[in-house]
Amino acid sequence: LAQQRLLIKGGKVVNDDCSVVADVYVEDGVVQQVGPNLNPEPPAGLVVLDATNKLVIPGGIDTHTHMQFPFMGSRSKDDFYTGTKAAIAGGTTMIIDFAIPQKGCSLIEAFDRWKSWADPKVCCDYALHVAVTWWSNKVKEEMKSLVQNKGVNSFKMFMAYKDLYMVNDEELYAAFSCCKELGAVAQVHAENGELIAQGAKKMLAMGITGPEGHELCRPEDVEAEATQRAITIANAVNCPLFVVHVMSKSAARVISNARREGKVVYGEPIAASLGTDGTNYWNKDWAHAAAYVMGPPLRPDPSTPGFLMNLLANDDLSVTGTDNCTFDICQKALGKDDFTKIPNGVNGVEDRMSVIWEKGVVSISRCLNVEQNARISVILGVVLFCKHRTISAKTHHQANNFNIFEGMICHGVPVATVSRGKVVYEGGAFNVTAGEGKYVSRPPFPPYVYKRVRQREQV
Ligand code: URP
Ligand code: ZN
Ligand code: ZN
Repeated sequence: LAQQRLLIKGGKVVNDDCSVVADVYVEDGVVQQVGPNLNPEPPAGLVVLDATNKLVIPGGIDTHTHMQFPFMGSRSKDDFYTGTKAAIAGGTTMIIDFAIPQKGCSLIEAFDRWKSWADPKVCCDYALHVAVTWWSNKVKEEMKSLVQNKGVNSFKMFMAYKDLYMVNDEELYAAFSCCKELGAVAQVHAENGELIAQGAKKMLAMGITGPEGHELCRPEDVEAEATQRAITIANAVNCPLFVVHVMSKSAARVISNARREGKVVYGEPIAASLGTDGTNYWNKDWAHAAAYVMGPPLRPDPSTPGFLMNLLANDDLSVTGTDNCTFDICQKALGKDDFTKIPNGVNGVEDRMSVIWEKGVVSISRCLNVEQNARISVILGVVLFCKHRTISAKTHHQANNFNIFEGMICHGVPVATVSRGKVVYEGGAFNVTAGEGKYVSRPPFPPYVYKRVRQREQV
């Protein structure tokens, strides 16, 4: 209760449109007042955070995580407890994870399973996207029920992972049409799964078995082609499209061009694609190279992160997630003789905001685009931002023993994180309990997205 009335004093409050030095008063988890010299009554029981010379920014939303995800013969190392605690240390107060059914299995059962894993463990708020990995009337009915009864407003379709999650164009068309009817946002993992399968065979036949084969078998074109195809299909049914984990300049250009043509498409670069690159696949240390294996891969062109950051600054790309899906070195070793067996995934949930700050604000001076993520998904949290930190697996709060941003010096780091009016992290110390995060329902027809869809229909 003592935490329920909070005054954040004298920080620079950063909003989408401007920044002002002001106090912020939070009661019952809701920001009640923002202004100079606030003196909320009664003073007894008021928690005061001194934010002098610090930025006060909205809590981050990581739009893309995979906590305790059973995948590629393993299970991702960060669970909903370690993953959301790490998120809080990094200033993120909400994650959106993915419930992913096997082909032929129920979407609702997958949603319930993921929720039963998350509810007892989450330290920050969360929501769930659901994947559509096959198509039938039952899938259609379940999508409707998830939207109308479970607060799901986004569905991910995989164009890769042949024979596991991949759907074909006919299934994409059906799923996009259904999303449009229900007021959901269609998401795609945009890579041509058939070309990856053929490319991987070719690499292995040539004796290329190491992590570099992972990138070589799925070059940028493989991502760009699928991105273009998904945009074309979504546009045919006027369904809003969200391309997750944009990893290459080629795919980003496709999205940017489509937006210029008025198509309702959003691109999500991730902390990894903004903060590091695919040259790491050629590192002589196998464990180092394997730690960067994810799909689509990071790109060896070292100008990729800067290019993606510029597009993010221009609103050509829209939000940033992480695709946080951590596997430690022993798990990655499942693919020591064959890169196709290396579990795909990297870290990011803890470092995302600092990496973006470093690469996007310290490097390219611009006002932080703080509102975008919330507009596309809908969502409370406050972060005090200042000081600096060197990222390292030795000091991070994630469960894995490798950090793809190792050694990066960041000049924007959370000093304190507030979730639902409670100071959950301050000066390196946590005040969290497993399960105190809440599931956030997201309504259908999010206006930021569907307003444009309706306008296009009227035109
Ligand atoms: O490598 C990745 N991206 N792992 C997680 C699964 C996915 O495709 O998002
Ligand atoms: Zn994916
Ligand atoms: Zn993912």
